Amino acid sequence: MALRQIVKEGDDVLNKKCRDVVNFDDRLAMLLEDMTETLRQSGGVGLAAPQVGILRRVVVIEIDPEEGVIELINPEIIETHGTQVGLEGCLSLPGKWGIAERPYIVTVKAQDRNGKEFTITGEELLARAFCHELDHLDGILYDSKVRRMLTADEISKYNDGELDLSDECYIEDDNGERIYPEYDEEEE
Ligand code: CO
Repeated sequence: MALRQIVKEGDDVLNKKCRDVVNFDDRLAMLLEDMTETLRQSGGVGLAAPQVGILRRVVVIEIDPEEGVIELINPEIIETHGTQVGLEGCLSLPGKWGIAERPYIVTVKAQDRNGKEFTITGEELLARAFCHELDHLDGILYDSKVRRMLTADEISKYNDGELDLSDECYIEDDNGERIYPEYDEEEE
């Protein structure tokens, strides 16, 4: 395994559409292992192949190290539910954060490193990571989709653990019913 350099904003490779993987070979396995090592070292939750300069439809996501890495080859979103509005960042845009709307629950169809098809469903952070990383494969960066980017002042508060975005961040189900934050059920 080897660490790969993470491409930063401004490099054209981040704006290009990636090609499907057709060969499920040792080269793909090596790319996946390098991407996982690079992701773990970066402290992020997801990495797409164009972020290491490879224009192929390959993504790795790891939310919880105990559950291990999710490898997605040629992934497609096949179903979504609800809405979540929350903070989003990207390893290719270090130090920046935005408030982005994504579905709350997302199901992806993909192939594994041997070419076998599978589906996987994620909610909240995992659903957000599916959307964010799959966008990378089409050359889309999250800052083109955000409701707004955080200001320098907000980022400094965020770094101090003092940022309050509770007015703007929420989760809703398919019917627009609020799941988070929960409303206070005060007597009228
Ligand atoms: Co990203």
